[in-house]
Amino acid sequence: MAQPRRRFPPPWQDRQGQFSPLKLAVLLGLTLPALWLAWLAFRGGLGPRPIMEAIHQAGLWAVRILLLSLLITPLRQVLRWPRAMLVRRMLGLGALAYALLHLTLYALDLGWDLAKVASEIVLRFYLTIGFVALLGLLALGVTSTDGWVRRLGGPRWQRLHRIVYGIGVLALVHFALQSKIDVTEAMLMAGLFLWLMGYRAVAPKGGAPGLLRLAGLAVAAALGTALLEAGWYAVGTGIPPWPVLAANLDVSFGLRPALWVGIAGAAAVLLRAARLLRERLPAARPAH
Ligand code: HEM
Repeated sequence: MAQPRRRFPPPWQDRQGQFSPLKLAVLLGLTLPALWLAWLAFRGGLGPRPIMEAIHQAGLWAVRILLLSLLITPLRQVLRWPRAMLVRRMLGLGALAYALLHLTLYALDLGWDLAKVASEIVLRFYLTIGFVALLGLLALGVTSTDGWVRRLGGPRWQRLHRIVYGIGVLALVHFALQSKIDVTEAMLMAGLFLWLMGYRAVAPKGGAPGLLRLAGLAVAAALGTALLEAGWYAVGTGIPPWPVLAANLDVSFGLRPALWVGIAGAAAVLLRAARLLRERLPAARPAH
């Protein structure tokens, strides 16, 4: 007898109710940073201001996972891998969970003085931006269920969920504004976000861009990251842009964000090329 579909199936099952190793792996992967953070807290390994360190770690993971959720569409199209879609919702909810943890830890840092939390959010611009981003993530989380897709209808639901791009911008501005002197990781994330947005601009409807476009995108995203970083330092600290731009050419202290973004873009070109090659090779014939 056919099993009735459960309203909330376990997160490791696919839409047909089958066990999905991919979903289980992503679920476990999403819990690892939180477990690692709990372990460090338990061992006293979070430095002199453990709660503030935990706030930073939770915020970082919220942004990283948000970007991973935005990577699913390119991954699906570049690799022609439709099953990647199985984990998009889970990644979005993962970003929301870490952002909520981030806010909870902030309230803990202020001794659960919620009036103070609220006034800080209102008075400090970077916190206001973070709060709006969190509200956006909450709206997406609540409406991520199949029931909400039905209720809103596909096109409206999709339009609503496009606010994720604005949420990404707000989260990255929040990140960069609180970064003080060193904005390296914030710029790396902003550069990867540039690539993710650029991908959507250059991809034809429903498919992956060609190799040339992907290569152009890699160069444009890397240049955009370098300019963003130089511009950020110029406006924020008055450092002239040329030395910051030139630092991208000096790899003796490690790679700057722009180069990492270029490498990530080049990896996308290689993955696409490998996929196309595989599709064009004649299928291996079974030996008799
Ligand atoms: C009500 C909402 C939020 C509050 C009150 C809040 C608060 C904070 C605070 C207090 C810091 C540390 C600032 C410092 O060291 O001076 C921080 C950093 C950060 N937050 Fe938020 N935040 C919020 C929302 C978000 C959201 C939605 C995201 C991401 C999706 C996020 C990502 C980050 C990141 C990446 C950092 C920097 C981590 C690092 O530099 O290591 N925050 N936030």
